[in-house]
Amino acid sequence: MNDPGRSGPAIDLSTDLCGIPLAGPVLNGSGTFDALAARKAFGDELLNDFPFAGFVSKTITVEPRAGNPPHRLWETPSGMINSIGLPNPGLSAFCERDLGPLTELGVPLIVSVMADSAPGFAELVEAVGGRDGVSGIELNVSCPNVHSGLIVGEQPDEITALLESLRGLTDLPLIVKLTPNVANPELIAAAAEAAGADAVSLINTIKATAIDPDSNRSWLGAGGGGLSGPAVRPVALAQVRAVSAAVSIPVVGMGGVTDGSSALEFILAGARVVAVGTENFRDPRAGQVVRDGLEEALHRRGFSSLAEAQASTLS
Ligand code: FUM
Repeated sequence: MNDPGRSGPAIDLSTDLCGIPLAGPVLNGSGTFDALAARKAFGDELLNDFPFAGFVSKTITVEPRAGNPPHRLWETPSGMINSIGLPNPGLSAFCERDLGPLTELGVPLIVSVMADSAPGFAELVEAVGGRDGVSGIELNVSCPNVHSGLIVGEQPDEITALLESLRGLTDLPLIVKLTPNVANPELIAAAAEAAGADAVSLINTIKATAIDPDSNRSWLGAGGGGLSGPAVRPVALAQVRAVSAAVSIPVVGMGGVTDGSSALEFILAGARVVAVGTENFRDPRAGQVVRDGLEEALHRRGFSSLAEAQASTLS
């Protein structure tokens, strides 16, 4: 929705992500906005101006997971460490209980999945890909909070093998969520593209910990977690820039997007769309704030549409 308080012609924010039509370029980062809880809290009013142009679910695994022991969240200067550990109801309960309501949000639904083996990923992709109302699948190969989550995402050969095993199982777009915890994320992205990925999203969180100086123990129950928020934005921008220069598939850019200006930084670094993550913990309407602010920022820069900015990436 264009900002009615801003003078000047409306900016066309519509776009698409590997064939998924989007009214605007602002998504949520997986696991950072509980749409079903928000709908309970705000009622159908939430749907009248849903904060995101597309919704990415919390990561689902085949079996239910309880998640990590507390503390799971730790505030840091300009950021946050999370050690959530992918709590989720598991595939069956997700499909029976949550998937239907998530398809009623009024925006395209992308389901995030994670497994510790290729057959596990295959089961998730087949089950979710066969359901009405799912527009895409994000493969979370980069969660720092579960041992098996990170390995595939660190190795180009492993990514190739995983994508080759999944590509034939669904016609839906497959979006690979990349880890920043490697020297050259563009090599992982290129391997994903060559093996049939339709898009990549980055960055997931940066491995981190917080120490209690009185006990020399980590404040986090699992000993460590992943850093996100404005503190990681410069790293995210550098990686988005490197990855988008290395691949032709679209890039979902995230890592400290808090307002229109930071969203525009990601678009100019080569991201097709952006995702808001940590900021949702502070402000559940952060998606609207970013969208409206991006419209303002585009106008200020003299762009008449999002597409113009997408075509005008950094050299
Ligand atoms: O729940 C989690 O720990 C999610 C982590 C991630 O995918 O980054």
